[in-house]
Amino acid sequence: MIKTKLAVFASGTGSNYDAIVEAIRTNQLDAELTILVCDNPNAKVIEKAKANGTPMFVFDPKQYVDKAMFETKIVEVLQEASVDLVILAGYMRLVGPTLLQHFEDRMINIHPSLLPAFPGLDAIGQAFDAGVKVSGVTIHFVDQGMDTGKIIAQEAVKIEENMTREALQQAIQKVEHHLYPQTIQQLISRGE
Ligand code: GAR
Repeated sequence: MIKTKLAVFASGTGSNYDAIVEAIRTNQLDAELTILVCDNPNAKVIEKAKANGTPMFVFDPKQYVDKAMFETKIVEVLQEASVDLVILAGYMRLVGPTLLQHFEDRMINIHPSLLPAFPGLDAIGQAFDAGVKVSGVTIHFVDQGMDTGKIIAQEAVKIEENMTREALQQAIQKVEHHLYPQTIQQLISRGE
């Protein structure tokens, strides 16, 4: 059986990248991680990918004239690796039309809130400051908006009385690390 080829995009720590690698290793996710795309040459995720032997495309957006230029390069890299599904995992950049038109309906994102609540940056801090009693995690298809695409999966996280911001972040990330691999597997099984 030919495995679905994934590209993971990350900008920072890469704990979701780790969770996906682990799910593949333990056969909970039947896919092949063909490439890590990273827009931050100082990101921690790069060391992890080196250690795991994941092929990488690391770029510095400042070295390109504009987003269309670096996204054209990304499209080339993804096509060369025959990528089927693009997984945004902490890629802190709005995807532009150049990349989106090639991967429409084949690009998903994880966001640390129950969308449509708290889109954009620091969703965990936004929820914490708003004093809501429930937040969570959303996985959605990517469209041209900021965290606006069709929702695929959500899981709630209760914000307990006296919970610190750090504790909320840990609770949300714990959910992310099982929900993302599980949802990717469901999409693959459904042939999406
Ligand atoms: C994750 O919590 C992810 O949901 C969030 O960035 C974090 C990356 O962590 N993404 C967004 O906020 C996108 N709007 P990681 O690098 O440890 O996977």
